Amino acid sequence: MTLRLGDTAPDFTAATTDGEIGFHAWKADSWAVLFSHPADYTPVCTTELGRTAALQSGFAERNTKVIALSVDPLKDHHGWAPDIGAATGTELNFPIIADADRTVSELYDMIHPGEGDTSTVRSVFVIDPAHKIRLILTYPKSTGRNFDEILRVIDSLQLTDAHQVATPVDWTKGDRVIASPALATDDVLERFDNVEVVTPYLRYVDDPS
Ligand code: BEZ
Repeated sequence: MTLRLGDTAPDFTAATTDGEIGFHAWKADSWAVLFSHPADYTPVCTTELGRTAALQSGFAERNTKVIALSVDPLKDHHGWAPDIGAATGTELNFPIIADADRTVSELYDMIHPGEGDTSTVRSVFVIDPAHKIRLILTYPKSTGRNFDEILRVIDSLQLTDAHQVATPVDWTKGDRVIASPALATDDVLERFDNVEVVTPYLRYVDDPS
């Protein structure tokens, strides 16, 4: 199934390290990050899940729940979890889906046949409170992701949902933002503080939040 930005994230029921989860009911009206990793007991995945666990308070501050997935069985997830804590210094603190029958992987197109085997690639879906898909990332198996970047995108989505702004290259929370190109410059000058008009379409303003 090809999923695109703005699509409703498919619902599913799955076995996880925290028991059976119905995805929409579990995330309820929170934001969610659903991400796949290729396999348990592998080095890059161990670092990724440890880093995600370490960022848990950052996700919680953004009203965001995190859930991981691989096609390994539940017993492997439970066997591997202590290694994540021992290797990275942060115990696993979010559920991992055991997608042994590949139901969820196929729903979200997380298995790419050209990528060596039938394990999942490194997919990331950011899903909003209305269950709409707002970010899709796909990384190769050999490249660990940057989970600070995922937090940064959530910050941008939450800010730009609330105000008529966009966020420029390399923006991080608190930096100046860009007024929506849909607004006339007169409007921008009226609505925002500290406007810098670089071109008629590039107007930097203070973060209005
Ligand atoms: C890893 O997590 O280390 C890994 C998994 C699959 C392929 C390459 C690396």
